[in-house]
Amino acid sequence: MITVDNITVRFGGVVALSGVSAEFTAPVAGIIGPNGAGKTTLMNVVSGFVQAAEGRIVHDGTDLLRLSPHRRARWGLRRSFQKEEVADDLTAHENVLVQTDHARGAGRGEEAGRLLELVGLADRAHVLGRELTGFERRLVDVARCMAGNPRLVMFDEPAGGLSMEETKRLGALLRDIHAQTGAQTLLIDHDVELIAEVCEEVLVLDFGKRIAFGPTDAVLADPKVKAAYLGTEEV
Ligand SMILES: Nc1ncnc2c1ncn2[C@@H]1O[C@H](COP(=O)(O)OP(=O)(O)OP(=O)(O)O)[C@@H](O)[C@H]1O
Ligand SMILES: [Mg+2]
Repeated sequence: MITVDNITVRFGGVVALSGVSAEFTAPVAGIIGPNGAGKTTLMNVVSGFVQAAEGRIVHDGTDLLRLSPHRRARWGLRRSFQKEEVADDLTAHENVLVQTDHARGAGRGEEAGRLLELVGLADRAHVLGRELTGFERRLVDVARCMAGNPRLVMFDEPAGGLSMEETKRLGALLRDIHAQTGAQTLLIDHDVELIAEVCEEVLVLDFGKRIAFGPTDAVLADPKVKAAYLGTEEV
């Protein structure tokens, strides 16, 4: 379980997050909301890029905000960005191997191989990052996030630029992360269909405030969410 406890973030005069709280208990949880709602800022607080003025992020008794970003990675925090972070001059296998540094013990190469197979890239393992398609790079990114005993994995709009078919495959993988690694997964995306398919619970932000949180079906049916999220009734 990951507890977001009363998080407030200010950038000068802008209040990007205002006393946001939520207890994520589902294996995969979503964060949605209009542009500028504070979704990425919340992930930045969890990963340590942004400092909260107030609040705590607690996972099974550990306050993540007390750990340096480096120690958060060792602890098991993984993050993927809108633009995947795949090194052009490393192979797919090497890109995953880098992340297994956090793992204890031997078998890192095997782990990287197993994860690439899991995401469907076994036959592309020795291809350089720059030779991979956009979707393959995204898959490498997913494999990387699953390496080295993760406890919490966060994705910020991972489906951007993917086709419907690719988005479906990505969604199935995101759903599988918990079963494969035991890690909880947080997903930001504007694709509400994807969110509905992979997330059991959802937090909705608008102008830095929580406007809804709970089981996905209930949240997406909430008139407040429909009104705020798209400004229409068509969520
Ligand atoms: N480093 C920063 N400095 C100043 N303001 C920032 C910074 N990062 C974010 N903001 C502001 O904080 C607010 C929340 O931004 P954030 O990027 O978290 O939104 P978002 O929900 O991820 O939006 P999007 O869907 O467009 O990605 C916005 O008003 C944004 O301009
Ligand atoms: Mg964002």
